[in-house]
Amino acid sequence: MIEQEKIEEILIPENQIQKKVEKLGEQISQDYQGKEVICVGVLRGAIIFLADLSRYIKVPMIMDFMDISSYGASTESSGVVRIIKDLDENIEKKDVLIIEDIVDTGLTLDYLIRMLKSRNPASLKVCALLNKKDRRQIEVPIDYCGFDIPDKFVVGYGLDFNGLYRNIPYILVLKPSYYQKTS
Ligand code: IMP
Ligand code: MG
Repeated sequence: MIEQEKIEEILIPENQIQKKVEKLGEQISQDYQGKEVICVGVLRGAIIFLADLSRYIKVPMIMDFMDISSYGASTESSGVVRIIKDLDENIEKKDVLIIEDIVDTGLTLDYLIRMLKSRNPASLKVCALLNKKDRRQIEVPIDYCGFDIPDKFVVGYGLDFNGLYRNIPYILVLKPSYYQKTS
């Protein structure tokens, strides 16, 4: 799946991710008791997380997806957010939970929250597997957070570099020489 020489370190092993995902699922199930939740997965990074998490969510749930772009092939957020695929569901008066792989600058999530709020959901919360706090440019609420991580570029478990490495079942730091621009 990945050559050993490209790995700087393994940040979160598979068993730790699975334990955390189970815990988050239990928490969400408790908090949404008696409700139906629409989980909005942000493509493509959140699909592995959402697929695993959903199996621990014990309340009725609907999965929907949204594709927005803030990154090109670069590893830096541009702050420019564009909708590529909108939701299929009408979320008015519904309980909505955004599922993100990682919150970095917060620009993507801030945009998404503002856009979804304007559609008048009954509630809107955020669940993110990873949180790169040090990089935050705008304050965003994260109601369910898996792991706080340092300011390092990570891949695996849905996260990619140039589309690759999403299928790796753990989260690792890529050696900077493999993602830094050579200019
Ligand atoms: P933000 O707008 O800067 O918060 O960026 C959020 C999006 O950038 C995430 O949903 C990811 O798709 C991507 N991203 C941020 N940091 C990383 C990383 O370390 N590895 C892979 N993708 C990342
Ligand atoms: Mg993303």
